[in-house]
Amino acid sequence: MDALDLSLLPQEIVVANERFPAELAACSDLDALNRLKGVYTGREGSFAVKLMEKLKSAPKERKRDLGAAINSLKSTWEEALKAKQVDLEGMKKSLEAAKNLWDTTLPPPVPPMGALHPLDRLMARLVEVFRPLGYHVEEGPEVETEEHNFDGLNIPEDHSARGTADTFYLAAHPQLLLRTHTSPVQVRVLKRLATELEKRNGIRFLAPGRVYRKDEIDPTHSPMFHQVEGMLVGKGIGMHHLKGTLAYAMKALFGEGADVRFRPSYFPFVEPGSEMDVRCPLCGGAGCRVCKGSGWVEILGAGLIHPNVLRFAGIDPDIWSGFAFGMGVERTAMMVSQTPDLRLFFENDQRFLKLMGGLD
Ligand code: PHE
Repeated sequence: MDALDLSLLPQEIVVANERFPAELAACSDLDALNRLKGVYTGREGSFAVKLMEKLKSAPKERKRDLGAAINSLKSTWEEALKAKQVDLEGMKKSLEAAKNLWDTTLPPPVPPMGALHPLDRLMARLVEVFRPLGYHVEEGPEVETEEHNFDGLNIPEDHSARGTADTFYLAAHPQLLLRTHTSPVQVRVLKRLATELEKRNGIRFLAPGRVYRKDEIDPTHSPMFHQVEGMLVGKGIGMHHLKGTLAYAMKALFGEGADVRFRPSYFPFVEPGSEMDVRCPLCGGAGCRVCKGSGWVEILGAGLIHPNVLRFAGIDPDIWSGFAFGMGVERTAMMVSQTPDLRLFFENDQRFLKLMGGLD
């Protein structure tokens, strides 16, 4: 039956039939479609049921035509609903397929790469600068004895550095402390190699590591920081050897233009003692925030090994002499990287580490 004779049907059904295409089009998933199905063709309370009642109560002579109209309308609805169901099922399938889509030709996700901390890299660079000069790496414990941290370094009994105001002593073992500098490694190595000096033709080593002092945390202080100790023992060693070695090392570290100057200073374990400044690598000596206007930045303490230090280790200071230096790693790193706050090196904020070039 082509043309539907809707005139036979109740007004309610005619209106519903006009609404049907729009309602069908609005169904965006199978649940909505099933609800619509219930309303139009379901077994209870639907338009289809109403139509059947209409048919029952119709006069005999009209039943044939009415029945045909009803069947035609119902099958039009059913066909449209069926077609929409096929559509929606297809859509659902392809959505699920897209969810599980895995392109095996894509490269795998690359996990973020770890890298050495900027302080570790600076210390490693120093080691590489000194290695061609015959220096090897030595290590000492961070928990030290007073003998290594003070006695063997000619630090007097009443020296203020020994006090509990400056030094962390272990509560459970008050004779032990957290080393306040890397110089106790000098004492350990000198004692260990004292009898092998002739055979080894002296000693040269670098000792990078952590040190501890009772300092309040602020932009330039931390209770834990790093030093690199350097020591050379030989015969006839003088300040010129120390100066030449450090000037060379600073050029290797900061570039050919690097300039150094020595100022007299005092450390009980060297004589003479000095502090070394490098010409501020940021302003070239003109004066800036980093060098506080002076054009120079202090980066290490140094001097000729005090005869008492050699004696303490069982080495004859009339035969052997040498130099030692202790470099502040954080202040050097701050200067090189223009980092105004030392705490950035310990907070491990990935953005800072990336900026320092440690991470890619
Ligand atoms: N140990 C000294 C300090 O921590 C530095 C230093 C080392 C000075 C070696 C002279 C010789 O300040």
